Amino acid sequence: MLNRRSLLKAGAAAGVLAAVPVGLVLGAQPRRAAAATTPFTVPLRVPRPLRPTRLADYDLYRLTSREADVAILPGTTSRVRTLGGALSPLIVARRGRPVIIEQANALDVPFSMHLHGGHVPAHSDGHPDNEVAPGRSRLFRYPNNQPASTMWVHDHSHHAHAENIYRGAAATYVLTDPAEDALPLPKGQYDVTLQLRDAKLEDDGTLVYDLHGFQDRPTFLVNGSPRPYFEVAARKYRFRLVNTSNERAFVLRLGEGDEFTHIATDGGLLPAPVPSRILQVWPAERQEIVVDFSKYPVGSKIVLSTMMTFPGEAPEVLRFDVVRTADDPSSVPATLRPVADLGTPAVERTFAMSFDPQRGQHLINGKPFDVNRVDFRPKLGVTEIWTIENKDVDFTIPHSLHPHLEHFQVVDRNGKPAGPNEAGLKDTITVMPGESARIKIKFTDYTGRFMFHCHLMGHLTMGMMGQMEMAR
Ligand code: C2O
Ligand code: CU
Ligand code: CU
Repeated sequence: MLNRRSLLKAGAAAGVLAAVPVGLVLGAQPRRAAAATTPFTVPLRVPRPLRPTRLADYDLYRLTSREADVAILPGTTSRVRTLGGALSPLIVARRGRPVIIEQANALDVPFSMHLHGGHVPAHSDGHPDNEVAPGRSRLFRYPNNQPASTMWVHDHSHHAHAENIYRGAAATYVLTDPAEDALPLPKGQYDVTLQLRDAKLEDDGTLVYDLHGFQDRPTFLVNGSPRPYFEVAARKYRFRLVNTSNERAFVLRLGEGDEFTHIATDGGLLPAPVPSRILQVWPAERQEIVVDFSKYPVGSKIVLSTMMTFPGEAPEVLRFDVVRTADDPSSVPATLRPVADLGTPAVERTFAMSFDPQRGQHLINGKPFDVNRVDFRPKLGVTEIWTIENKDVDFTIPHSLHPHLEHFQVVDRNGKPAGPNEAGLKDTITVMPGESARIKIKFTDYTGRFMFHCHLMGHLTMGMMGQMEMAR
């Protein structure tokens, strides 16, 4: 429950996040403050893909959710929760080749694995009904019969998920396919996953979790390292950014507002690349960019920073150090992936997101999550249009909506057609207080119960979730 004081704090702080229109954020000066650690003293860790057991019909991974002591702040270790013992592990899967993950739970809290962005059958979606109790294990089956995209794996056990994610248990899951391989985008060592998040760390390395502490997490981590540096060649790189934060939004800019190319979002490649200078990455979103470092002389250092900070926070996220030249056969083609045709909507639904101060709960259409209630039953093959309304004008709290199972298209925001940065498939959309957005979605094959929810983990924990049951 929020008490009045933390509520007021939450409202005021969320106001910083929410009430600043992007136009104003553009002109805002990054705020400088004494950071707990000196930025750019540790190198970025680039995860190598985990090695599965290759069986005839699928790749098998064994992932244990367990605690581990890892080095985050120099000279200390932090007790974190992991999938497999390290922060930011990476799974690379191939379209058409299923992955089975055997998840063993060595934590003392329930854990349920969810492939965020995955088109997966209900039994493998991480529904709270399928929680893996401490000491138990379970198989999760991912068919990978969907287009290439960057996804991530996290806990979905109701009540424990916010803390499990905060404490580090999150894997990046990259799905590749032949259509994307055929494009000349940067590949191999020049295709890098970056998990972004915030955290509160004490000087001795202790990772501090507070459900309501979203404005007191001043250390930014990239792949588990605090404000690292990354040595790059003077050529193009593809970066797959995944925001695994509980509540933190990153509004990124490169150097002094240098240009980069936005190429993909949650559901994979955009129809066409979008030259950009600002990149918003809201919790649970994936955004992919290509940065061409060939325009910087060797020896340059270019800082990626966020323009949305709480008072006293250092804005730096990551520094790119251009250390060498390299050949660059890669390029960003003028068209990337055709726009999916989701058909003409035949069903309308509204999702009103609001905070109830009396109950201390976050609600969708006036109701908190109830595992025994099905909120609606979409029919397979029928296109729907959903209106998401953020009613939290008084508390100025941003909210998102993330339906499991299918990606959607953003139709419009506040009645204005979605821009080119949102022209691809999405699975999580954030809506500012007093604003609304419409999305188009079509459920196609799997039946059963799936969740939809706000992906600000505190809100989700405090009720902002519902269930839909797909029927033929
Ligand atoms: Cu990241 Cu229910 O999802
Ligand atoms: Cu999800
Ligand atoms: Cu919310």
